[in-house]
Amino acid sequence: MSDAKKTATLTLDGTSYELPVMSPSAGPDVVDIRKLYAQAKVFTYDPGFTSTAACDSEITFIDGGKGELLHRGYPIDQLAEKSHYLEVCYLLLYGDLPGAKQLEEFERLVTYHTMLHEQMVYFYRGFRRDAHPMAIMTGVVGAMSAFYHDSTDIHDEHAREVATIRLIAKMPTIAAWAYKFSIGQPFVYPRNDLDYASNFLRMCFAVPAEDYEVNPILARAMDRIFTLHADHEQNASTSTVRLASSSGANPFACIAAGIACLWGPAHGGANQATLEMLREIGTVDRIPEFIARAKDKDDPFRLMGFGHRVYKNFDPRAKVMKQSADEVLELLGVDNNPTLQVAKALEEAALSDPYFADRKLFPNVDFYSGIILEAMGFPTSMFTPIFALSRTVGWISQWKEMISDPAMKIGRPRQLYCGATMRDYVDIEKR
Ligand code: SDX
Repeated sequence: MSDAKKTATLTLDGTSYELPVMSPSAGPDVVDIRKLYAQAKVFTYDPGFTSTAACDSEITFIDGGKGELLHRGYPIDQLAEKSHYLEVCYLLLYGDLPGAKQLEEFERLVTYHTMLHEQMVYFYRGFRRDAHPMAIMTGVVGAMSAFYHDSTDIHDEHAREVATIRLIAKMPTIAAWAYKFSIGQPFVYPRNDLDYASNFLRMCFAVPAEDYEVNPILARAMDRIFTLHADHEQNASTSTVRLASSSGANPFACIAAGIACLWGPAHGGANQATLEMLREIGTVDRIPEFIARAKDKDDPFRLMGFGHRVYKNFDPRAKVMKQSADEVLELLGVDNNPTLQVAKALEEAALSDPYFADRKLFPNVDFYSGIILEAMGFPTSMFTPIFALSRTVGWISQWKEMISDPAMKIGRPRQLYCGATMRDYVDIEKR
């Protein structure tokens, strides 16, 4: 982070305060208000954090106006095309692309830590079969702090590394087992001779009754979906992980908090909500009815998979996802998939409607991902768990960056209090 050279002047009740202005390596300058309350006895007010930088970070940069997303400086479309998820994990965690030896060692570490403590099998059995897989993931990941005590000390560098590898390696097993549990099928154990994405597909779709061959094109599409969801700056779930971590809570509990936040339909739950919306629309001729509802201020309905707090242009991930959707559906011979037809017609209709164009509401990462996942055989309830699996590395990278900052302090926002001012207690006889 650059040292402040410029300043901003705030004048309140005739008194002026000089606030340092810091310039980043990319993106807008920031006004440093850390001393504002001490100097001027006022708070700033920004409930949705639309104008607030909560931290400094070197991991991911988004230019919402241009529709750009960089991971440690590398554009997401290049990473999606040329890299693969575990290499992107290494990049996010350690700051640069690995050499061949570094990548081999990282992939070996992840491969040999995919199994869960066998006692966790019984933990799964405590859930109802119809539990949402996100409820199971939130519970199981939080419970990891009860099974992996030796990697909960956040002040121990080695323990942090062990927790990092454990979470990245075990998340596919945890997600796949949540799926298997919900459909009443036996758990399938990971295999060390499969790559990360193939292992996940096999753990989800293999059954003991027969061999299961992973389709390499589907494995590539799966890996690309993991890459496209890996990290995204200070989004709601990442900010949740950072805030939880700032109290010194162990990494498993903090990642569980991130999973809980991601579940919301305005955030990671949007991929499930998008597919349910496309199914509800059903046919292209019903699109105008839903566009009208999305524009109607008295109707809470919004177009799921559209809009973004930061992107006021196409979400670059949605572009790559759209290409993948075409490839996968063609491979599966379902390129006349009615849901995909509705999605493409809806995108066209919305983008030509001034309401969406004026508000810069473009398709986001969740708009096409659900179509691919459904075509691959996943139920909608597994869409957000797959998002959580992919985002684990982003949460951990941001957690590590914050925890290792000696200046880290507990996050404790203030408020604009609008409640009752001081008043005396009234005995019940007098009320
Ligand atoms: C993710 O933060 C991240 O980086 C998140 C994420 C990540 O990788 O971590 O990218 C993943 O969460 C993607 C977003 C997935 N969510 C959805 O697809 C749900 C549908 N989208 C909306 O809920 C909404 O667009 C948000 C929540 C995504 C963004 O909301 P904002 O920035 O708070 O926008 P807003 O509510 O201020 O809306 C501005 C205007 C409003 O209209 P006006 O009051 O100006 O007349 O746009 C309208 C809104 O009503 N609007 C929509 C709309 N989204 C915003 N109208 C119809 N349909 C929509 N989807």
